[in-house]
Amino acid sequence: MKKNINIAIVGLGQIGNHLFNELKTKKKDIELKTEKKINLIALSAKNKNKKRKFKINKKIFFKNPLDIIRNLNVDILFEVVGKSDGISKKIVETALKNKIHVITPNKALIAKHGDYLSKIAEKNKVNLEFEASVAGGIPILRTIKESLATNKINKVYGILNGTCNYILSEMEKNADTFSNVLKKAKLLGYAEPLNPKLDLNGYDAFAKVRILSSLSFHKKISNNKCLMEGIESIEYKDIDIASQLNYRIKLLGITELIGNRLFERVHPCLVKKDTYIGNVNGVMNAVIVNGKPIGESILQGEGAGPGPTSSALMSDLLSILRGNIKYPFGLPHKKRKKANVYNVNLYSNSLYMRLEVKDKPGVLSQITKLLAKRKISVERLIQMPDHKRKTASIVIITHKANEYNAQRCINSLKSNKNILKNPILIRLL
Ligand SMILES: NC(=O)c1ccc[n+]([C@@H]2O[C@H](COP(=O)([O-])OP(=O)(O)OC[C@H]3O[C@@H](n4cnc5c(N)ncnc54)[C@H](OP(=O)(O)O)[C@@H]3O)[C@@H](O)[C@H]2O)c1
Repeated sequence: MKKNINIAIVGLGQIGNHLFNELKTKKKDIELKTEKKINLIALSAKNKNKKRKFKINKKIFFKNPLDIIRNLNVDILFEVVGKSDGISKKIVETALKNKIHVITPNKALIAKHGDYLSKIAEKNKVNLEFEASVAGGIPILRTIKESLATNKINKVYGILNGTCNYILSEMEKNADTFSNVLKKAKLLGYAEPLNPKLDLNGYDAFAKVRILSSLSFHKKISNNKCLMEGIESIEYKDIDIASQLNYRIKLLGITELIGNRLFERVHPCLVKKDTYIGNVNGVMNAVIVNGKPIGESILQGEGAGPGPTSSALMSDLLSILRGNIKYPFGLPHKKRKKANVYNVNLYSNSLYMRLEVKDKPGVLSQITKLLAKRKISVERLIQMPDHKRKTASIVIITHKANEYNAQRCINSLKSNKNILKNPILIRLL
């Protein structure tokens, strides 16, 4: 690689702004550690005149980011716009085809087009780096790709969305409702003010799960239908009951190979309070890797925000500057096969169920009969009557139950006249 390296940043929002400043303030440090000279020669964002946190040189500002590639000699381009398609895909694709290394924190883009883009990168012998796309500042991708390169990984799981973890932790800490805590999260900048849906419904964590699966199991990025549930319907009541049973509720992203078949899922889980993951609270993320011979390895840290995300972007930059230019997903594109998909209906898990019922004789036996019909056996059953309303909450922890049977059972419970609300079902880890 040549000595003088030209850099461009496309996108000057929360992350791009911070990255711009990091490149300026850490220039000497980067040059010392890589023996390269770096020059920021181009910037792009939608609006040239927008007031930004740091003063930018308008002379190197491009309204159309594709003009940077057409007109300048760029070596490394940061894509920090954030769309899964459109301009983000176009700029990354064009840069790679023009033999420009690309660094991006864009999980939506990588989860959707990572295979296609990595093929172009390999063909053009440049790198596509995306450390910041999963768990922000936690160096999980490079750890899997490099430090654990010869391990046989069979499961990766963790807390991959700081917004959801913050909301669930605050609901527990302050005995508060989901909607109140969401408002607070928006004010603090932990949840997107206009559209936090993609964080809350599990979609964001799921994009990260897909990237983790691909790197961990050396497969193409899956596009399978998967088990995806968010936290929007979690009530404080369940957090409270779970707490009394010594559990916490966490939104987990889980990917594993079961009999060589890929099983990816994102859903709320009851985790024991005395486990590591049960004590990762607030906006923190944590990722646990199970592999051989490493055993269980845990990385915890800040999963979002300009500081941690820029830290991961800088590690990608140094990796490229040091000449570590190899396959984006750890092995050649051709060698990564499509994953066989695990049939979710076969999965067995212990379950937490909460049923709001009419408090009258015979209701409990109707419920236990329905459970028995679906071969779901009860480990624990708690009944909490509300004498004034003549209702009761019934909480059931089951032994391992088959997913298909559990869903059938929930459907039957939903149509039972003595059950007053849709049953709550949360899986145990
Ligand atoms: N925020 C986080 O904590 C975080 C954490 C991890 C990963 N990420 C990822 O980082 C990426 C950026 O996120 P962000 O929070 O920085 O987003 P953001 O604040 O919305 O910034 C997006 C930037 O893209 C620019 N842009 C939009 N359309 C453009 C176009 N056609 N041409 C050139 N520039 C265009 C915008 O320009 P204007 O400024 O002129 O509007 C803005 O500067 C996303 O992929 C996100 O998933 C973010």
